[in-house]
Amino acid sequence: MSLTAVRHVRRPQGPPRTEDFEFVTHPMPSPGEGQVLVEAVYLSVDPYMRQLMDLGGWELGHGLEGRTVGRVIESRTPELPTGTVVFHRHGWSTHAVLNATDVRRIEPAEGVPLSAYIGILGGTGLTAYVGLTRIAKLRAGESLYVSAAAGGVGSAVGQIARLLGAERVVGSTGSAAKVKHLIENLGFDTAFDYHTETLTEPIDVYFDNVGGDQLAQAIDRLRDRGRIAWCGAVGQYNSPDDPPAAPHNLFDVVGKSLRLEGFLVRDHLDARVEFERFLTPKIQSGQVVVDETVVDGFDNIVNAFTAMLRGENTGKMVVHNH
Ligand SMILES: NC(=O)c1ccc[n+]([C@@H]2O[C@H](COP(=O)([O-])OP(=O)(O)OC[C@H]3O[C@@H](n4cnc5c(N)ncnc54)[C@H](OP(=O)(O)O)[C@@H]3O)[C@@H](O)[C@H]2O)c1
Repeated sequence: MSLTAVRHVRRPQGPPRTEDFEFVTHPMPSPGEGQVLVEAVYLSVDPYMRQLMDLGGWELGHGLEGRTVGRVIESRTPELPTGTVVFHRHGWSTHAVLNATDVRRIEPAEGVPLSAYIGILGGTGLTAYVGLTRIAKLRAGESLYVSAAAGGVGSAVGQIARLLGAERVVGSTGSAAKVKHLIENLGFDTAFDYHTETLTEPIDVYFDNVGGDQLAQAIDRLRDRGRIAWCGAVGQYNSPDDPPAAPHNLFDVVGKSLRLEGFLVRDHLDARVEFERFLTPKIQSGQVVVDETVVDGFDNIVNAFTAMLRGENTGKMVVHNH
């Protein structure tokens, strides 16, 4: 028995390539006293990992952290018997030996796919929820615009904003097929392809996943006293040495009395229980769609990561191990 893991072996210039990674195998480790051996079921690949590939992030030749939902297959602690479903952050590996304190038990709710716990019911959905409720403080009747709207966070933002009473939900994304998906399957009022169009209507809240030009356009369209929840800048992650300058109209934040606030979901983990209580029934009833692209096989994790950065995912990109 062996485990397979991925190492980062070269720092990319621009978009990452498969040669920047290598797969390694090790004999299967055994858990010590108080530990468990966990087999990955779903693994997450995320845009922030591209930033970790640059100097100061992941160390070359070492294991790659990341979010995983897996099953205990061997246990040396009564707290977590074999078969327990857990969440951990050990990362890009088919198996991991972990201390009981390094995993969080998951009790999958009836009618909710396990993959959701790494997507819309996991950190991805929590990011959307926190950005809307704590940062932008979206109010019923307001209009919201979200960029990278057809991705994991974006598709959660659009759907959660509707539940919070948004009067109008607008999204930008990278293709005509994704525009259609947002409107027909996720309840967006309208959407557009940012390659060929720009935001044309007034908004109260901008949930920014992209930065750059899309942030500048949103500043132009925000009503006075509008809010920006700045979540990410995926438009810049592939060219860290040459990021677009700050939006040319940044000073309009003053003229329009806007509020721009960045946030990290890891500072808001105390919202998780409230968030799960809010969203789980909506998923069970079908009111909220678990939007995801599932790539089969751990061997494809590098491809899944690079494809996600190219926009080949719809909803949360997850890798299915077993
Ligand atoms: N602040 C936090 O704590 C936190 C937590 C989680 C995620 N985030 C951020 O949230 C954003 C979305 O993350 P996610 O995990 O949900 O990923 P995702 O949106 O599922 O995947 C990334 C998407 O970015 C889009 N994209 C790629 N290059 C782009 C470019 N140059 N301009 C515009 N769009 C581009 C692609 O969609 P298109 O086809 O539409 O181009 C791609 O599908 C990222 O910025 C991420 O860093 C922040």
